[in-house]
Amino acid sequence: MSKEHSFLVGSISIQLNCIMTLKEEYKNQNMWRNWAAYLQKIPLVSGETILDLGCGLGYVTKLMADKALQVIGIDSNTELLAEATKLNKASNSRYVQQDLRRINPQDLPLADGIWTSFTVAYFPDFVPVLQQWLALLKPTGWIAIVEISDLFAHYPIRSTTRDMLRNYYDQQRRAGIYDFEMGSKVKDILVHEGLSITHEENMSDKELSFNGPADEQIVLAWEARLNRLVGFQNQFDKDTYPGFKREFLASLLDAEHVCTTEVKFIIARK
Ligand SMILES: C[S@@+](CC[C@H](N)C(=O)[O-])C[C@H]1O[C@@H](n2cnc3c(N)ncnc32)[C@H](O)[C@@H]1O
Repeated sequence: MSKEHSFLVGSISIQLNCIMTLKEEYKNQNMWRNWAAYLQKIPLVSGETILDLGCGLGYVTKLMADKALQVIGIDSNTELLAEATKLNKASNSRYVQQDLRRINPQDLPLADGIWTSFTVAYFPDFVPVLQQWLALLKPTGWIAIVEISDLFAHYPIRSTTRDMLRNYYDQQRRAGIYDFEMGSKVKDILVHEGLSITHEENMSDKELSFNGPADEQIVLAWEARLNRLVGFQNQFDKDTYPGFKREFLASLLDAEHVCTTEVKFIIARK
């Protein structure tokens, strides 16, 4: 980590240039995901073959492998897959590098279930991607999707800052990079593609969707995320980004902090 400049938010020292690798960041974030609460709700039964699409470091791949016949984690990021193989390899799991926008089904078995967490927002035009994924599922297969809606909906925040954040959402969606509101769209897309929704829930999350003041580790994780989003930083004049960061991180620490971000968990069947 480089620590060129810092400022205080409450009692926490925030580095303007605190750079974590994506790997480090994802490892940290995993601590705040209550995967057990999700996995007890998926229809996975022993003997099933599961695909984990956008598996990242493979934490969920490994957890599902405890129950499944086999789990295949698919991701495009070489570094994350190498780390997944080190950290989260089970005897009945494997990791495959592929682009989820155009999966090559060769070498992949037909699956009983698809798990995909915090990944579908990377596909603002999700319908054609989903259609390819559904072709990997058996006729009565299931899909479980976790996705966020309105990542930056933390308050108190000035209305001008909120407007700027909304502009950023629009710009990213239009550029086909990321849909910050995908979580709220998933259910309708699945229904439109003819699937039956079997479970729908808004999940609480210690980092992404919580009320009341955040603890220090959460604030630092948010700081690392804000430092990673270079396209986001470019929305600002060079000198105003530190001010935005201070305002946003202070809102997380505020005694009156509230968050309207939703972490949507939807399960559906073909
Ligand atoms: C936010 S991470 C989520 C990781 C993991 N599923 C979790 O819930 O912790 C999103 C993952 O999607 C992967 N991803 C994004 N776009 C992709 C693409 N076009 N093809 C394959 N993987 C992609 C990233 O490499 C990253 O590992």
